[in-house]
Amino acid sequence: MPKRLNLPDSASVATPDGEGRLFAPSAARNAEAIVTLVRDILRDTTGEALEIASGTGQHITALAAALPTLHWQPSDIDQDRRKSIDAHAKSSGLPNIAPAIALDATSPGWGVEQSGKTFICLANLLHLISAQEARILISEAAEALAPGGRLMIYGPFMRDDELTSEGDAAFHASLTTQDPEIGYKSDFDVIEWGLSSWLDYEDMVEMPANNLALLWRKAG
Ligand SMILES: C[S@@+](CC[C@H](N)C(=O)[O-])C[C@H]1O[C@@H](n2cnc3c(N)ncnc32)[C@H](O)[C@@H]1O
Repeated sequence: MPKRLNLPDSASVATPDGEGRLFAPSAARNAEAIVTLVRDILRDTTGEALEIASGTGQHITALAAALPTLHWQPSDIDQDRRKSIDAHAKSSGLPNIAPAIALDATSPGWGVEQSGKTFICLANLLHLISAQEARILISEAAEALAPGGRLMIYGPFMRDDELTSEGDAAFHASLTTQDPEIGYKSDFDVIEWGLSSWLDYEDMVEMPANNLALLWRKAG
């Protein structure tokens, strides 16, 4: 089992509801802002959307409800999270969510298997993996996108190598104390990793709670 599953408790808090669904307060807090942004970008786009590291499944059920013209594929490395995702999808009654698949986004090769995606999104994982793993993740996502497809990565970032709030500095320190290879990535580095995977950089959107959403598009 990859060591990155050994996340700090503060990084991935979720409580069960007795029906297999996990609920993360952080996912509930940021779902609306993420859905609003994705709906603005994609509107009536059709095709296949992949969420990497879907976690509890709260985000993908909200996204699938708001963007019914897309067919949504959730994924996560962790079996308990995948059970929760499927339980959320079932109780939502939505017809456009596939069963969650096991996907280690830091493992080379998954991009070809997941090819043809119109949209790929990821929330709140980059700070929990190493820079090398993040580069693999972005390059595999670039491979998986269809021509014209978009990649969105959401989460906490350094701005130009600077931590910009006390809360972010404390969280970053708690991560690097556990593992010096993980922690916040700098916005410019992550943008560059997308560019070096032949993605066109589109936008950086300031999100609530000092988070960012970074957006790229694959030429086509
Ligand atoms: C902090 S949670 C974020 C979940 C969700 N995206 C959100 O924002 O609420 C991190 C998630 O990443 C998953 N994860 C950790 N390492 C992973 C990897 N290498 N590939 C895919 N998922 C991974 C964990 O199982 C967990 O569900």
